Amino acid sequence: MDLKSLIQRIPKAELHLHIEGTLEPEMMMALAHRNRIKLRYASVDEIRDAYDFSDLQTFLDIYYAGAQVLREKQDFYDLTSAYLKRAAEDNVRHVEIFFDPQTHTERDVDFATVIDGIHRALQDGQSQLGITFRLIMCFLRHLSASDALATLEEALPFKDKIHAVGLDSSEVGHPPSRFVHVFDRARKEGFLTVAHAGEEGPPSYIWEALDLLKVERVDHGVRCLEDLLLVARLADEQIPLTVCPLSNVKLRVFDTLEQHNLKLLLQHGLCATINSDDPAYFGGYIGENYLRAQRALNLSEADIHTLTRNAFNASFLSDADKQRHIVDLDRAMISF
Ligand code: HPA
Ligand code: ZN
Repeated sequence: MDLKSLIQRIPKAELHLHIEGTLEPEMMMALAHRNRIKLRYASVDEIRDAYDFSDLQTFLDIYYAGAQVLREKQDFYDLTSAYLKRAAEDNVRHVEIFFDPQTHTERDVDFATVIDGIHRALQDGQSQLGITFRLIMCFLRHLSASDALATLEEALPFKDKIHAVGLDSSEVGHPPSRFVHVFDRARKEGFLTVAHAGEEGPPSYIWEALDLLKVERVDHGVRCLEDLLLVARLADEQIPLTVCPLSNVKLRVFDTLEQHNLKLLLQHGLCATINSDDPAYFGGYIGENYLRAQRALNLSEADIHTLTRNAFNASFLSDADKQRHIVDLDRAMISF
């Protein structure tokens, strides 16, 4: 059965979205022009042609280069506003957005410039589009733990705007254990924690994220199926996995979408969710991720209901707000 219209209309939450990964080639060119930054590409088509990745690292190299065009508060505002507008078209009602301050502070862009631009756009998105939000600050794991700690210190004056901290960038060779002290400190300061683990890295990284970083959710986590003890733990505790189907195929975690293990994750009783990761780079926003995964894996109406319900339950919203969204979701499912 084609579930396209159902997927389009049901309310959604997106929990794994790097705001720098929503930088569309058109905006990259426009911002390069506005900020007088020389790009290595001559046209939007040339940019798009470069998006042929063989793994996480080949993507990250291009992604960090693209982020150089973001310099002013207005740039971060425009980037975030464009994402929210696009998300609203997919009926997204709640977003939990990652940002990578180190990508910007390394280039002498102030922390305040980054967070103020993003946060102002999120507030305007909430009042104009009705999309609620949380902000998650990610540490780049290819940099040192002391760099991450310095970034955490820098973030403390903006604590009221940041709900959680996360860990992203090159996974293999940079296990969560390197960041235990940083995450200990973050939790002491009142931040919730999440971490990318088990995207390219082994199941042991997921164990470390759970046991050492005490994460509330695992970002990606798809390699958990290689360790059945880990699967039992994730199922028992209903630890959410923020799965990103199109990203996983673009970065060759799976050769094809048909080979993706999302359906198996659900069959194991795991709290899996669907997200877009870096939609400007991976060929689709959240609606497209749902639709392509549904078609490739023959997901049922019940699977779609479970995945969307999981996302609201896995969010950092209050229990009352989760319930409010889930009531809306259940209504939309019934009237289908
Ligand atoms: N993995 C790790 N780091 C990232 C990703 C990802 O999928 N996207 C942006 N930074
Ligand atoms: Zn990610």
